[in-house]
Amino acid sequence: MSNLYAPPKLLFCVTKLREEERRIYDYVLQAGMEVDVCTDNMQLELADIRQYDLALIRCMSQSKALERAQYIELAGVRTLNQYESIRICTNKAFQALLFERHGIAQPAFEIAFTLDKLYDYLERFNGNFVIKPVSSSWGRGVTWINDRLTLDAWIAARESIDPQGKALPVLVQQYINKSNYDIRVVIVGDEPIVAFKRISHDSWLTNTHLGAEVEPISLSKPIKEIVKQLIDAIGSGVYGLDLFYDHTDHTYKVCEVNQNPEFAKSWLIHHVDVAQAIAELCVYTVNTGTGRNVNDVVNEHTRITI
Ligand SMILES: Nc1ncnc2c1ncn2[C@@H]1O[C@H](COP(=O)(O)OP(=O)(O)O)[C@@H](O)[C@H]1O
Ligand SMILES: [Mg+2]
Repeated sequence: MSNLYAPPKLLFCVTKLREEERRIYDYVLQAGMEVDVCTDNMQLELADIRQYDLALIRCMSQSKALERAQYIELAGVRTLNQYESIRICTNKAFQALLFERHGIAQPAFEIAFTLDKLYDYLERFNGNFVIKPVSSSWGRGVTWINDRLTLDAWIAARESIDPQGKALPVLVQQYINKSNYDIRVVIVGDEPIVAFKRISHDSWLTNTHLGAEVEPISLSKPIKEIVKQLIDAIGSGVYGLDLFYDHTDHTYKVCEVNQNPEFAKSWLIHHVDVAQAIAELCVYTVNTGTGRNVNDVVNEHTRITI
């Protein structure tokens, strides 16, 4: 049982300890916290969960991250990110609706619940739009449709592998004239800590995972303003925000927001230590009491054995 003088304890949920998780782990230890690692294939010991002051979720699978966060929160321990923010981040259609409610600039969008409806969007988006599975990452399944024939082909392929439409809805977004890059903003807590262009010379998809180059840029006022709007809408946490600079109307637009951003390759170029910032956020969250649920604070005396 934890006592007043025991170091705070972190439960670190990961798929495996890659280099970037290892660095977060080391920083958290250096900051004086105890850390237990729980990998995706390990038993989550909920009976003991309240020994932890915080759980940091860095599972690579979106469904595993959601599962871990939901069980841990329901058992009474604060997670980072919180379940609700992971739920939004792991569904691009949910995000589009949240951004709309909060007036956050984004590409015009529709959510297609039937394949037929996609033909209506050919006209709506002047035959130039992007179809996205609502839950995916690393550019998987993101498809640029630029005429009726490409839409026919997309639908035919989809019908052959998913005749019952189980993978619907999909998000449909206006194609943005973004040049050969998008912008990744890494947010830790409430603040952006670094921004960089992801430039691709051979693909319209600019994910670093697919080989895009990293070019650091300054955290300009418009980028900071969008981050503030985003945090007001989704709450503080660790995020990778994907932004477009639309060269047609010269405005920034949010492409998507990710929980659990990867940084192993990019930080070697921009040199902002994302692992250290995440570790500091863990310590801050615990020290400010935001690491505990309200009930824990109310029942503080029952937790402390001196
Ligand atoms: N509406 C769009 N217009 C132009 N390019 C887009 C659009 N949506 C996505 N892209 C490109 O596709 C990439 C992947 O899309 P994204 O929504 O970020 O999905 P993922 O979760 O797979 O990263 C983006 O980084 C960007 O390069
Ligand atoms: Mg993305």
